[in-house]
Amino acid sequence: MKHLIAPSVLSADFANLQRDVEMLNSSEADWFHVDIMDGVFVPNISFGFPVMEAIKKYATKPLDVHLMIVEPERYIERFAAAGAYSITVHYEACPHLHKTIQSIHEAGAKACVALNPHTPVELLTDILSDLDMVLVMSVNPGFGGQQFIHNTLSKIARLRAMAHQVNPELLIEVDGGVGLHNTAALSSAGANVLVAGNAVFAAPSPKEMISSMKNLSASAINSI
Ligand code: DX5
Ligand code: ZN
Repeated sequence: MKHLIAPSVLSADFANLQRDVEMLNSSEADWFHVDIMDGVFVPNISFGFPVMEAIKKYATKPLDVHLMIVEPERYIERFAAAGAYSITVHYEACPHLHKTIQSIHEAGAKACVALNPHTPVELLTDILSDLDMVLVMSVNPGFGGQQFIHNTLSKIARLRAMAHQVNPELLIEVDGGVGLHNTAALSSAGANVLVAGNAVFAAPSPKEMISSMKNLSASAINSI
């Protein structure tokens, strides 16, 4: 099973963005996790197209774009044109989720649905086979550096069992409070994309932290 590390650029130094992007380029990170917040769906505003385009200009790895915005369907084509490899929309923001997923695929990106901590994985039963990835939020979205919500582990295990039946290739991504302390448990539960902001960028050596998380997730996933 795949085991990918996706550092969250939200925790980068925006005054030295090119430097931090190049650091990730030369690390064992697999993707760049790009958090877009609108101040409506979540109580924070992050950044928009100019910053994402600046990241894209220097990044040599796929951009994994996490839309924490209302009416995300209005912006799918623009995010795809700005270089998104995958586009994640929130279940809680999409009344016509099936249509939104179709639009993401038509725009040429991988389609992912994110679930807030209170949203049960079972609500995805009838859309799971159409998805490339599910993002299980392990904090309430809006801010980096929050504490991991423990119940996430059982959600991931339940989702992996559901995916086993209908979509064995499904990627399960986990986002929020992820670090060395829970890497092995998350990977053993069936998560194969670990997002980490604070754990990477506040580490004395971000590249060593990425490498340690990558190795730890590899051994946990291979022993399932
Ligand atoms: C939170 C964002 C996360 C955030 C994770 O709403 O979706 O991607 O950057 O940050 P850490 O790893 O610091 O919890
Ligand atoms: Zn995120």
